[in-house]
Amino acid sequence: MQGTSIVASVLSAAFLTGAGALAATLGERTRGNGDDPVMTLAIMAQLEKGGATVAGPITAAVEKVDDGKGNLHVPENYRARYRFIGSWAVAGDDKGSGSKEIHTVYASPGAAESYLKTGQFEDGVVLVKEVFETKTVDMTTGTVSHADKLKGWFVMVRDSKNAAHPGNPLWGDGWGWSWFDYGNTTKTTTIDYHNDCMGCHIPATSTDFIYVGGYPALKRR
Ligand code: HEC
Repeated sequence: MQGTSIVASVLSAAFLTGAGALAATLGERTRGNGDDPVMTLAIMAQLEKGGATVAGPITAAVEKVDDGKGNLHVPENYRARYRFIGSWAVAGDDKGSGSKEIHTVYASPGAAESYLKTGQFEDGVVLVKEVFETKTVDMTTGTVSHADKLKGWFVMVRDSKNAAHPGNPLWGDGWGWSWFDYGNTTKTTTIDYHNDCMGCHIPATSTDFIYVGGYPALKRR
Protein backbone atom coordinates (compact mmCIF):
# COMPACT_ATOMS: atom_id res chain seq x y z
CA MET A 1 0.00 0.00 0.00
CA GLN A 2 1.21 3.45 -0.85
CA GLY A 3 0.34 4.78 2.59
CA THR A 4 2.57 2.24 4.25
CA SER A 5 5.59 3.18 2.18
CA ILE A 6 5.01 6.88 2.80
CA VAL A 7 4.91 6.24 6.53
CA ALA A 8 7.95 4.00 6.33
CA SER A 9 9.99 6.55 4.41
CA VAL A 10 8.99 9.40 6.68
CA LEU A 11 9.79 7.38 9.77
CA SER A 12 13.11 6.14 8.47
CA ALA A 13 14.06 9.64 7.33
CA ALA A 14 13.16 10.92 10.78
CA PHE A 15 15.22 8.29 12.56
CA LEU A 16 18.19 8.64 10.23
CA THR A 17 18.39 12.38 10.67
CA GLY A 18 18.27 12.11 14.43
CA ALA A 19 16.20 13.71 17.14
CA GLY A 20 17.35 17.27 16.50
CA ALA A 21 16.39 17.22 12.86
CA LEU A 22 13.15 15.48 13.71
CA ALA A 23 12.27 18.25 16.12
CA ALA A 24 13.14 20.78 13.44
CA THR A 25 10.94 18.99 10.93
CA LEU A 26 8.07 18.91 13.36
CA GLY A 27 8.52 22.60 14.04
CA GLU A 28 8.36 23.36 10.34
CA ARG A 29 4.99 21.95 9.71
CA THR A 30 3.48 25.10 8.31
CA ARG A 31 2.96 24.97 4.60
CA GLY A 32 5.92 25.83 2.49
CA ASN A 33 8.51 25.07 5.09
CA GLY A 34 8.35 21.31 5.38
CA ASP A 35 11.25 19.37 3.98
CA ASP A 36 9.29 16.33 3.03
CA PRO A 37 6.27 16.85 0.81
CA VAL A 38 4.72 13.58 1.86
CA MET A 39 4.88 14.33 5.57
CA THR A 40 1.28 14.23 6.68
CA LEU A 41 -0.43 15.79 9.61
CA ALA A 42 -1.50 12.39 10.88
CA ILE A 43 2.03 11.09 10.81
CA MET A 44 3.34 14.20 12.47
CA ALA A 45 0.78 13.82 15.22
CA GLN A 46 1.91 10.23 15.63
CA LEU A 47 5.56 11.25 15.80
CA GLU A 48 4.80 14.04 18.22
CA LYS A 49 3.24 11.60 20.61
CA GLY A 50 6.57 9.84 20.50
CA GLY A 51 5.03 6.80 18.90
CA ALA A 52 6.99 4.82 16.38
CA THR A 53 3.95 2.86 15.29
CA VAL A 54 2.57 3.45 11.84
CA ALA A 55 -1.11 3.22 12.68
CA GLY A 56 -3.57 6.06 12.17
CA PRO A 57 -5.33 7.63 9.25
CA ILE A 58 -3.38 8.99 6.33
CA THR A 59 -4.54 12.51 5.71
CA ALA A 60 -3.70 14.86 2.89
CA ALA A 61 -0.06 15.70 2.33
CA VAL A 62 1.11 19.25 2.95
CA GLU A 63 2.49 20.26 -0.43
CA LYS A 64 5.29 22.73 -0.88
CA VAL A 65 4.30 25.02 -3.74
CA ASP A 66 5.19 28.33 -2.17
CA ASP A 67 8.61 29.95 -1.79
CA GLY A 68 7.95 31.00 1.78
CA LYS A 69 6.97 34.50 0.68
CA GLY A 70 3.67 33.41 -0.83
CA ASN A 71 4.80 33.09 -4.45
CA LEU A 72 3.43 29.84 -5.82
CA HIS A 73 4.79 27.60 -8.55
CA VAL A 74 3.38 24.74 -10.56
CA PRO A 75 4.21 21.58 -8.59
CA GLU A 76 6.88 19.38 -10.13
CA ASN A 77 5.82 16.16 -11.74
CA TYR A 78 2.19 16.57 -10.68
CA ARG A 79 0.87 14.33 -13.44
CA ALA A 80 2.59 11.36 -11.84
CA ARG A 81 2.34 12.37 -8.19
CA TYR A 82 -1.12 13.95 -7.99
CA ARG A 83 -4.51 12.38 -8.51
CA PHE A 84 -6.52 13.30 -11.58
CA ILE A 85 -9.96 14.26 -10.21
CA GLY A 86 -11.93 15.34 -13.28
CA SER A 87 -12.19 17.49 -16.38
CA TRP A 88 -14.26 20.18 -18.04
CA ALA A 89 -15.01 20.66 -21.74
CA VAL A 90 -15.77 24.24 -22.73
CA ALA A 91 -18.17 24.25 -25.69
CA GLY A 92 -17.08 25.90 -28.93
CA ASP A 93 -18.81 29.05 -30.09
CA ASP A 94 -20.50 27.39 -33.07
CA LYS A 95 -22.90 24.53 -32.67
CA GLY A 96 -21.27 21.26 -33.62
CA SER A 97 -17.76 22.66 -33.46
CA GLY A 98 -16.83 20.59 -30.43
CA SER A 99 -15.04 21.94 -27.38
CA LYS A 100 -12.74 24.92 -27.57
CA GLU A 101 -10.95 24.17 -24.31
CA ILE A 102 -10.43 21.16 -22.10
CA HIS A 103 -9.56 21.63 -18.44
CA THR A 104 -8.03 18.79 -16.46
CA VAL A 105 -7.79 19.00 -12.70
CA TYR A 106 -5.36 17.27 -10.33
CA ALA A 107 -5.32 17.17 -6.52
CA SER A 108 -2.25 16.64 -4.35
CA PRO A 109 -1.63 13.28 -2.67
CA GLY A 110 -4.30 12.31 -0.17
CA ALA A 111 -6.49 15.34 -0.92
CA ALA A 112 -9.34 13.46 -2.59
CA GLU A 113 -9.30 10.66 -0.03
CA SER A 114 -9.47 13.07 2.86
CA TYR A 115 -12.15 15.17 1.11
CA LEU A 116 -14.27 12.05 0.74
CA LYS A 117 -13.99 11.47 4.47
CA THR A 118 -14.51 15.00 5.75
CA GLY A 119 -16.08 17.03 2.94
CA GLN A 120 -13.26 19.57 3.36
CA PHE A 121 -9.99 20.38 1.68
CA GLU A 122 -7.28 20.19 4.28
CA ASP A 123 -4.70 22.91 4.72
CA GLY A 124 -1.76 22.34 2.40
CA VAL A 125 -3.84 20.64 -0.29
CA VAL A 126 -3.00 21.80 -3.82
CA LEU A 127 -5.27 21.80 -6.87
CA VAL A 128 -3.85 22.20 -10.37
CA LYS A 129 -6.04 22.94 -13.37
CA GLU A 130 -4.46 22.51 -16.79
CA VAL A 131 -5.98 24.52 -19.62
CA PHE A 132 -5.68 23.00 -23.09
CA GLU A 133 -6.53 24.22 -26.52
CA THR A 134 -8.23 21.45 -28.43
CA LYS A 135 -8.37 19.73 -31.77
CA THR A 136 -11.76 18.53 -32.95
CA VAL A 137 -11.82 15.64 -35.38
CA ASP A 138 -14.21 13.05 -36.78
CA MET A 139 -13.48 9.74 -35.17
CA THR A 140 -15.27 6.43 -35.09
CA THR A 141 -17.09 7.58 -31.94
CA GLY A 142 -18.33 10.81 -33.55
CA THR A 143 -17.10 14.39 -33.50
CA VAL A 144 -14.39 14.37 -30.86
CA SER A 145 -12.37 17.12 -29.20
CA HIS A 146 -9.11 16.23 -27.54
CA ALA A 147 -6.53 18.12 -25.54
CA ASP A 148 -3.89 19.67 -27.78
CA LYS A 149 -1.71 22.65 -26.84
CA LEU A 150 -1.25 23.35 -23.14
CA LYS A 151 -1.90 27.04 -22.41
CA GLY A 152 -0.99 27.03 -18.74
CA TRP A 153 -1.98 26.17 -15.21
CA PHE A 154 -4.19 27.46 -12.44
CA VAL A 155 -2.83 26.56 -9.02
CA MET A 156 -4.63 26.83 -5.69
CA VAL A 157 -3.32 25.86 -2.27
CA ARG A 158 -5.56 25.50 0.77
CA ASP A 159 -5.09 27.88 3.69
CA SER A 160 -8.43 27.68 5.46
CA LYS A 161 -7.63 30.19 8.19
CA ASN A 162 -5.90 32.70 5.91
CA ALA A 163 -2.90 32.31 8.17
CA ALA A 164 -0.11 31.67 5.69
CA HIS A 165 0.38 35.11 4.09
CA PRO A 166 -2.02 37.70 5.46
CA GLY A 167 -2.17 40.81 3.28
CA ASN A 168 -0.55 39.09 0.28
CA PRO A 169 -2.81 39.77 -2.75
CA LEU A 170 -2.34 36.20 -4.00
CA TRP A 171 -3.78 34.77 -0.79
CA GLY A 172 -7.20 34.98 0.81
CA ASP A 173 -10.66 33.47 1.09
CA GLY A 174 -9.08 30.23 2.26
CA TRP A 175 -6.64 29.73 -0.61
CA GLY A 176 -3.48 30.86 -2.37
CA TRP A 177 -4.31 31.63 -6.03
CA SER A 178 -2.15 31.90 -9.17
CA TRP A 179 -2.10 31.39 -12.94
CA PHE A 180 1.02 30.37 -14.88
CA ASP A 181 1.44 30.75 -18.62
CA TYR A 182 2.82 27.69 -20.39
CA GLY A 183 6.60 28.00 -20.39
CA ASN A 184 6.87 29.62 -16.99
CA THR A 185 5.95 27.37 -14.11
CA THR A 186 7.50 29.54 -11.44
CA LYS A 187 6.45 33.12 -12.15
CA THR A 188 2.77 33.87 -11.98
CA THR A 189 1.08 36.57 -14.03
CA THR A 190 -1.60 36.92 -11.37
CA ILE A 191 -1.43 40.22 -9.52
CA ASP A 192 -4.43 40.14 -7.20
CA TYR A 193 -6.75 37.19 -6.79
CA HIS A 194 -9.69 39.47 -6.01
CA ASN A 195 -9.58 40.80 -9.56
CA ASP A 196 -8.01 37.88 -11.37
CA CYS A 197 -9.88 34.93 -9.87
CA MET A 198 -12.60 35.72 -7.38
CA GLY A 199 -15.22 37.16 -9.73
CA CYS A 200 -15.54 33.78 -11.43
CA HIS A 201 -15.33 31.64 -8.30
CA ILE A 202 -18.08 33.38 -6.34
CA PRO A 203 -20.74 30.93 -7.65
CA ALA A 204 -18.82 28.21 -5.78
CA THR A 205 -18.75 30.10 -2.46
CA SER A 206 -20.70 27.41 -0.60
CA THR A 207 -18.09 24.79 -1.51
CA ASP A 208 -15.06 26.85 -0.51
CA PHE A 209 -14.84 28.34 -4.03
CA ILE A 210 -14.19 24.98 -5.68
CA TYR A 211 -16.53 23.65 -8.39
CA VAL A 212 -16.69 20.27 -6.67
CA GLY A 213 -19.62 19.06 -8.81
CA GLY A 214 -17.27 18.40 -11.73
CA TYR A 215 -15.00 15.91 -10.02
CA PRO A 216 -15.90 12.22 -9.97
CA ALA A 217 -12.98 11.52 -7.63
CA LEU A 218 -14.63 13.68 -4.96
CA LYS A 219 -17.87 11.72 -5.11
CA ARG A 220 -18.66 8.43 -3.52
CA ARG A 221 -20.02 6.96 -6.70
C1 HEC B 1 -13.51 33.31 -16.41
C2 HEC B 1 -13.84 32.85 -15.09
C3 HEC B 1 -12.70 32.34 -14.20
C4 HEC B 1 -11.55 32.99 -13.82
C5 HEC B 1 -11.11 34.40 -14.20
C6 HEC B 1 -10.85 32.08 -12.94
N1 HEC B 1 -11.55 30.90 -12.81
FE1 HEC B 1 -10.89 29.22 -11.88
N2 HEC B 1 -12.50 28.20 -12.60
C7 HEC B 1 -13.58 28.77 -13.23
C8 HEC B 1 -14.57 27.76 -13.49
C9 HEC B 1 -15.95 28.01 -14.10
C10 HEC B 1 -14.03 26.54 -13.06
C11 HEC B 1 -14.64 25.16 -13.22
C12 HEC B 1 -15.10 24.92 -14.64
C13 HEC B 1 -14.03 25.08 -15.70
O1 HEC B 1 -12.85 24.77 -15.47
O2 HEC B 1 -14.37 25.50 -16.81
C14 HEC B 1 -12.73 26.86 -12.48
C15 HEC B 1 -11.89 25.94 -11.87
C16 HEC B 1 -10.70 26.24 -11.27
C17 HEC B 1 -9.84 25.30 -10.62
C18 HEC B 1 -10.14 23.83 -10.42
C19 HEC B 1 -10.83 23.66 -9.06
C20 HEC B 1 -12.24 24.20 -9.06
O3 HEC B 1 -12.47 25.28 -8.50
O4 HEC B 1 -13.13 23.54 -9.63
C21 HEC B 1 -8.77 25.98 -10.16
C22 HEC B 1 -7.58 25.39 -9.43
C23 HEC B 1 -8.96 27.37 -10.50
N3 HEC B 1 -10.15 27.49 -11.18
C24 HEC B 1 -8.10 28.38 -10.13
C25 HEC B 1 -8.26 29.70 -10.51
C26 HEC B 1 -7.33 30.74 -10.18
C27 HEC B 1 -6.09 30.56 -9.31
C28 HEC B 1 -7.75 31.88 -10.79
C29 HEC B 1 -7.10 33.23 -10.84
C30 HEC B 1 -5.68 33.26 -11.17
C31 HEC B 1 -8.97 31.53 -11.52
N4 HEC B 1 -9.24 30.21 -11.29
C32 HEC B 1 -9.66 32.39 -12.32
C33 HEC B 1 -13.70 30.07 -13.61
C34 HEC B 1 -12.69 31.02 -13.55
